[in-house]
Amino acid sequence: MYRTKTCGELRLENVNETVTLAGWVQRVRKMGGMSFVDLRDRYGITQLAFNQEVDAALCEQANHLGREYVIQVTGKVAERYSKNANMPTGDIEIIVEKLQVLNQSLVPPFTIEDETDGGDDLRMKYRFLDLRRNCVRSNLELRHKMTIEVRRYLDGKGFLEVETPVLIKSTPEGARDFVVPSRMNPGQFYALPQSPQTFKQLLMVSGFDRYFQIVKCFRDEDLRADRQPEFTQIDCEMSFVEQEDVLNLFEGMAKHLFKTIRGMEIKEAFPRMTWADAMKYYGSDKPDIRFGMKFVELMDILKGYGFGVFDNAAYIGGICAKGAAPYTRKQLDQLTEYVKRPQIGAKGMVYARVEADGTVKSSVDKFYTQDVLQKMKEAFAAEPGDLILILSGDDANKTRKQLCELRLEMGNQLGLRNKDEFACLWVVDFPLFEWSEEDQRFYAMHHPFTSPKPEDIPLLDTDPGAVRANAYDMVINGVEVGGGSIRIHDSQLQHKMFELLGFTPEKAESQFGFLMNAFKYGAPPHGGLAYGLDRWVSLFAGLDSIRDCIAFPKNNAGRDVMIDAPDELDQAQLDELHLQVNLKK
Ligand code: AMO
Repeated sequence: MYRTKTCGELRLENVNETVTLAGWVQRVRKMGGMSFVDLRDRYGITQLAFNQEVDAALCEQANHLGREYVIQVTGKVAERYSKNANMPTGDIEIIVEKLQVLNQSLVPPFTIEDETDGGDDLRMKYRFLDLRRNCVRSNLELRHKMTIEVRRYLDGKGFLEVETPVLIKSTPEGARDFVVPSRMNPGQFYALPQSPQTFKQLLMVSGFDRYFQIVKCFRDEDLRADRQPEFTQIDCEMSFVEQEDVLNLFEGMAKHLFKTIRGMEIKEAFPRMTWADAMKYYGSDKPDIRFGMKFVELMDILKGYGFGVFDNAAYIGGICAKGAAPYTRKQLDQLTEYVKRPQIGAKGMVYARVEADGTVKSSVDKFYTQDVLQKMKEAFAAEPGDLILILSGDDANKTRKQLCELRLEMGNQLGLRNKDEFACLWVVDFPLFEWSEEDQRFYAMHHPFTSPKPEDIPLLDTDPGAVRANAYDMVINGVEVGGGSIRIHDSQLQHKMFELLGFTPEKAESQFGFLMNAFKYGAPPHGGLAYGLDRWVSLFAGLDSIRDCIAFPKNNAGRDVMIDAPDELDQAQLDELHLQVNLKK
């Protein structure tokens, strides 16, 4: 037996037991005639003690151990003289009687401790070592626990886990596909699924009325902190349901996860906000409602007083930051610079402080009387000590997005975005279509299988842009953790949808004929949702990036720097796949 105990489990009640442990050497310390080794495994760290006077040779052997050597020791558990309250095993140590080196290690390129000296790139190159660090490993443990609880919940509700294929067909909608050449079918390519959407709908036609899958999805998108090219969905679909049924079931799952993983009992129903309100009041379809600062529109109040910037604006809106009036000129200048950064793109920012006596002092005082400024104060229900920040622009949607960035930044600066606080929200009634100025066509906001609200169906012919969908997202702390919709199950309506999306009948047939055909054989009404597992884990672990809860993630350039992928193929492989690489200079 390599070990009788792990490095995380020994306590005072084990004193005098003889145990055998195996693990990695975290560090060796010499103190007078004693040497101490911190031995680490997945479960914790245990201190090993060696006494020069008792066994000089053994002590010498310990002194020569290098970091990350793999060793096995046998010894007696003893109470420590100087206890370490920060370690679960901090009351005991092992008085080692026998030490065997199972394997040596090169000096690791960074220290394998919570606070490491390794930069991002180095840690990713040696991810197998990075994963030995407690803080990284614990994220994967959390991930494991969450998938267990997801399966427990869904199994309890009668869901069946079914695997769907990974080599599928490319579709032009949505993000870019990752494609795989087919050797047996020269010149043809599979695509990796962006989600199992069409397959789960086919499973509904097959009668599997409650399906789920914890499944890898692939999207060739630009990466951000909450996006990876391959990520994991908790993908679900149900038959004979309406939107309300789906929301209830998955709100239940969210509450189950909060309870079992975070120990938080959420009794109240999650609030619901229409997409239109989310955009109007927060400038985002995923508002962070941990804090207020709802937008207030000021066109009626501030237009027409000779301040050109506002007079010519299509939108003027602001937020009120409670108690932030003491912001200095320098802080306000920095905020102005923040919103003027190219990524945000505002032209400038106007501010107004509510003074102790209730008067309002603004950066554009010369254009406005105190009367007008008081009206503005009332619109925000602002009080003495509050700071009002205003943006304007000639494109309302763009300006709202800029104001959204400003609001989030103020939330950060005022400490209102605490990672241990959670604010869950359903955003509902998304538009069915999104107009692309660039391509002069409609795109499906969610995907082409999402059903319009029945009462909006007549608008499909007259004003498609105004049609609302039976589509919903769950948002937690400003993160879209999941989304779904009630689907179209009528092949005629589906055809109409394809038509509005600019598909010719031939193209619709070649892309989605299999689904349209299946719908002719008794498709039940159905709908579903997919949660982003990586985002859920990151939220619960308080991570800044989903990368940290993925064992082997890609970097921002989409590369795995450890295995050095993607990589070129050799000519023989290219020939076999009938491929020619055409790199333009
Ligand atoms: P959607 O595209 O909204 O819906 O994806 C569902 C959820 O998956 C997560 N997600 C991602 N996580 C990490 N990296 C990414 N690149 C990434 N992209 C998406 C998000 C998102 O809410 N088939 C539909 C679902 C349905 O209609 O049932 C779909 O894929 O948390």
